[in-house]
Amino acid sequence: MKKPWAGRFRERTAKTVETFTSSIPFDRRLWKYDIEGSLAHVKMLKKQNIITSKDTDSIIRALEKIKRNIQKGKFQFRDDLEDIHMNIEYALVKEIGRTGGKLHTARSRNDQVAVDLRLFLRNEIEEIQKLIKLLQTVLVKLAEKNIDIIMPGYTHLQKAQPVLLSHHVLAYFEMFERDRERLKDCLERVNVLPLGSGALAGTTLPINRKYTARLLKFSSISNNSIDAVSDRDFVIEFLSAASLFMVHLSRFSEELVLWSSAEFGFIELPDAYSTGSSIMPQKKNPDVPELIRGKAGRVFGHLMALLVILKGLPLAYNRDLQEDKVPLFDTVDTVKACTAVLTEVMPKIKFNKKVMLKAALEGYSTATDLAEYLARKGVPFRESHNITGRIVKHCFEKKKSLMDLNLKEFKKFSKIIDKDVFDYLSVESSINKKKSYGGTAKRRVMNRIKQIKTGR
Ligand code: ARG
Repeated sequence: MKKPWAGRFRERTAKTVETFTSSIPFDRRLWKYDIEGSLAHVKMLKKQNIITSKDTDSIIRALEKIKRNIQKGKFQFRDDLEDIHMNIEYALVKEIGRTGGKLHTARSRNDQVAVDLRLFLRNEIEEIQKLIKLLQTVLVKLAEKNIDIIMPGYTHLQKAQPVLLSHHVLAYFEMFERDRERLKDCLERVNVLPLGSGALAGTTLPINRKYTARLLKFSSISNNSIDAVSDRDFVIEFLSAASLFMVHLSRFSEELVLWSSAEFGFIELPDAYSTGSSIMPQKKNPDVPELIRGKAGRVFGHLMALLVILKGLPLAYNRDLQEDKVPLFDTVDTVKACTAVLTEVMPKIKFNKKVMLKAALEGYSTATDLAEYLARKGVPFRESHNITGRIVKHCFEKKKSLMDLNLKEFKKFSKIIDKDVFDYLSVESSINKKKSYGGTAKRRVMNRIKQIKTGR
């Protein structure tokens, strides 16, 4: 096969080099965007009288035909044609002859691949935003339905203070809200048209970039042709937003793994979403959250790969940039798969309300409430903290809970303690008294749910 660029070459390309440099095995998935970009480009060329209406029409018709062939699986992607751009151009020339060669007027593969990637990512970000929104909806429903489940809140993975399960779950809602905001912000910089930058310097032909941008619904056009063909910041921004999102999915997954263990026993994962062991017949393993946790590492790796690929690159386009695709595509696929499976499994998880409550009752989790009770009566908090500490030590030695002490015993530690202290010691009252904004009081949590559902 004669290359489109074969003009200045004396030898044909070595087979090894063809295989080594080819990106078609992975960039073929850009075909839709490549054609979309070409259609807009050719319409612009016609509007600017750079090519005739007749040529434009036949190029458009042929591109539409190629599109249908690819959709039907009737298109043969060829390795010796390097990439998706040359594959489609070759098919075009095969279809309509010399006229097909006019499509590449005022264009280079360098600005072409950049536009394809931006169109692809713009679409995928919108898909991912929708998926995250679905996951959030599931979490809100779950929080609403289980508003009365009490669990221990943890610090240092030690029981700290009782909280509502809903409050804990909604913490993830807030993380995902920030993830969506970050993606929205990233989208602004993805949504810039690089086409019309040529190889790196622009073009002598009278193109109209604003028109192309309008056709492709880009909100702005790049200001510097050198930057436009060498910039992959938008990919890195996406990978970093995706990485942080994966951090959140991974932390959530870690909790599901812990909570489903016999040691915690807080939840039961549905059988249909668990797997067994090939040797230990009794086992039911939380492989789904484990894999989400593991896949987070893979996405962070992709972010690191792109940072390293870019860091030493001189301007403008270098073939190194072809290596952006596999990490980007794999991140998109991984993030979507993880979000979808978590959204599916969440409503099917069984929460063991009694076990969670029992765990919340252990570990003197209302000790802070007792200290705040004393502070409310005028005892400096540092003193009330100390008094409460001594009460806890006493209970610990006597194997009692705070609720087991009577008023006389409390008085031994502080005369200020009165019978209203018992209002502060149960986990229910502990939770309902956490009325500060953003706190775990049931009323607060219900308000937040209402806020979310009504869009504020
Ligand atoms: N396959 C290439 C890539 O993905 C397309 C651009 C190639 N440009 C070039 N001058 N070799 O980056």
